[in-house]
Amino acid sequence: SVTILRTVADLRVTVAGWRRAGETVAVVPTMGALHAGHLSLVEAAQAAADRVIVTLFVNPKQFNSPEDLAAYPRTEETDARKLEAVGDAVLYAPDGGEIYPPGFATTVSVTGVSEGLCGAHRPGHFDGVATVVAKLLLQTGADLGFFGEKDFQQLHVVRRMARDLDIPVEIVGVPIVREDDGLALSSRNVRLSPGDRTIAPALYTALSDAATRLSAGEEPADVLAHAAERVREAGYSDVEYLELRAEDDLAPLDRPDRPARLLVAAWLGGVRLIDNVKVAPA
Ligand code: PAJ
Repeated sequence: SVTILRTVADLRVTVAGWRRAGETVAVVPTMGALHAGHLSLVEAAQAAADRVIVTLFVNPKQFNSPEDLAAYPRTEETDARKLEAVGDAVLYAPDGGEIYPPGFATTVSVTGVSEGLCGAHRPGHFDGVATVVAKLLLQTGADLGFFGEKDFQQLHVVRRMARDLDIPVEIVGVPIVREDDGLALSSRNVRLSPGDRTIAPALYTALSDAATRLSAGEEPADVLAHAAERVREAGYSDVEYLELRAEDDLAPLDRPDRPARLLVAAWLGGVRLIDNVKVAPA
């Protein structure tokens, strides 16, 4: 079953009870509008810990425009029902004032892994993410935190932040859940027009093909340029970035001489989509 909690005080009482019973705790931070990608994190958390807290908070500090924040889907009742279907969890859905009370003045800012990629195109975004995730990890006191590889740079930012601040949590990355046609599940996919929805999978197709070619030793500059061109030809209006980075520390790579990821952000009909695939060393 699913219990909904609204305040840090209630959360702490609940977690303290679990702790007295010797139970382990996992947290799955989300902004709601839950889909199968989120639910795979919840299932991984349930398999790894005695108790699972799913957090639902649409974090204003990580949005780059008021329009994007306003357009973000809010479907708490449906979310609670979806959670019920996958098992037991606490749904922590605090009000804005519980996370950012009047006078709130602290920002957690991570350098290095937050630079480039989405960090270069969404000023302040990862500060917003690091700040809210630090709070959610501290409020829940979880042993384990589950994050999707869908937001691969975010996963690195959160890992770095937890390590640097000595938050006693293990950050676990979970593979991307995709539609049958390859499109990575995202809360923003519902904003695609039916026509754009048929174009959308071209992003994953281009990435996968490029990953295969890179691992086969083809010239990286050519492979990346060709992949970006294919995405544009499919109907995307802009490719923000398409880059090869190291799997373990996100260092920019000229060629896949160690385990790597190919990461992309691109715009389709006013919707910004991101994706990434593994690249085996050539
Ligand atoms: P949100 O976009 O709701 O995503 C919550 C978690 O679900 C993130 O860890 C994200 O990587 C993961 N996720 C989303 N789509 C996925 C997919 N197709 N496959 C696997 N995992 C997927 O990411 C955020 O919220 C926020 O930035 C948050 C961390 C909650 C901080 O506000």
